[in-house]
Amino acid sequence: MERDPASPELVRPDIDLSLFPATTSVSDSGRVGVGGVDLLDLAAEHGTPAFVYDEVGLRTSFRAARSLFGEGVAYATKAFLTPSLARIAADEGMSFDVSSAGEYRCCRLAGVAPDRLVVHGNNKTVQEIDTAVADGVQWIVVDNFVELSRVIDAARRLAVTPRVLIRVNPGIQIHTHRYIATGNRNSKFGFPVWTGDAAEAMETARRAGCLDVVGLHFHIGSFVLSLDTFVAALDAVASIVEQFDPRVLVVGGGLGLRYLRTDECPTLEEWGRAILDWAARRFPGRRVLAEPGRVLVARSALTLYTVGMVQRKGRTRFVAVDGGMSDNPRPMLYGSGYEAFSLTRPLEPHAAVCRLVGRHCETGDTLVERALLPESTAVGDIVCTPVTGAYGYSMASTYNLIPRPPIIMVRDGRARVTTRRETEDDLFAREVAP
Ligand SMILES: Cc1ncc(COP(=O)(O)O)c(C=O)c1O
Repeated sequence: MERDPASPELVRPDIDLSLFPATTSVSDSGRVGVGGVDLLDLAAEHGTPAFVYDEVGLRTSFRAARSLFGEGVAYATKAFLTPSLARIAADEGMSFDVSSAGEYRCCRLAGVAPDRLVVHGNNKTVQEIDTAVADGVQWIVVDNFVELSRVIDAARRLAVTPRVLIRVNPGIQIHTHRYIATGNRNSKFGFPVWTGDAAEAMETARRAGCLDVVGLHFHIGSFVLSLDTFVAALDAVASIVEQFDPRVLVVGGGLGLRYLRTDECPTLEEWGRAILDWAARRFPGRRVLAEPGRVLVARSALTLYTVGMVQRKGRTRFVAVDGGMSDNPRPMLYGSGYEAFSLTRPLEPHAAVCRLVGRHCETGDTLVERALLPESTAVGDIVCTPVTGAYGYSMASTYNLIPRPPIIMVRDGRARVTTRRETEDDLFAREVAP
């Protein structure tokens, strides 16, 4: 908390707006709004936990990706997908990376045409491949030899010529959590470049005579913070690009973003420029596309929680909220960091070190290991964690049979619940007999 040097009687809240959605505003009295909607009012009306998404922020990101890479650039839906989100991304001209029949159906429900769908996955079912071939999707990204023969078989059986990309694994080490590194020599994804499998897959696909082999694809991992890593991956696939001279090269997604005040990360524009500059030098006249996920949606959301317990145990001050690992499993899965902010006490110094924990039956159910919150934080306060728009809701579970939170989209002073809160009845809707 600081005094405003321009009007010293005004106290500015301890809020780092660069971590909050783009349309966040703070009133003189410290009330925080997103999309022109007051967050405490939202919490009172819709309850907590709740995901709040800034529609303008989402649209701005999709538009930026589309203008950097052009037609065909895909949003990686695993980061966050609902039919409403798909409609927004489609409006802004995005294609969609889908990796299951569920993601495919969600985009179709939103009215996305099949030729805007890029079908992914390392173990697609025969049914998923048949649907993609019959519907004429933008591309099927072929991951391995079993799948290659299934796609060839479907093309012949259905007498259709699907457009395919061959996914190659560049085999490079990157600095991210090992669970989300996908382009190293240990990865289950793609045809390895260094063994000759990638070249063999390209030759087999071209020889089959029933596929339109549009190009090559790679994806090195998620939450990658350095442009050099992407350039190293491009260098690692350069020889196979030169050998086969594909029409299209897709560089996947994977760009990280700032979750903490202290994080540093290139912007979407810097990332796009680094990739496109490489392509202009090494691959002139060919299309280079991408499929970012996280970076397009993460900052446009925050999660609202209510504090239910504050207690010092030993040397630790615990603040427990009404969500946790079921709405945000990333801290537990990858040790990911977040910050917390008190919406109830925005003008008090955020200086008390607390452990922000959830309500689940696991000691590891910690949302923020070292949260800075006001000293007077108390039961009933509303706190939020910013940058929860990616891999939160999409990875949410009903662990402990706790229903999943709603999605509230805010824009121009209006709040729309686009996915309602799950109910306890929903939890048992699939039971066949009591
Ligand atoms: C093939 C593919 N493309 C794109 C992405 C998106 O990655 P991110 O959300 O880190 O941008 C992923 C994520 O795992 C992926 O597997």
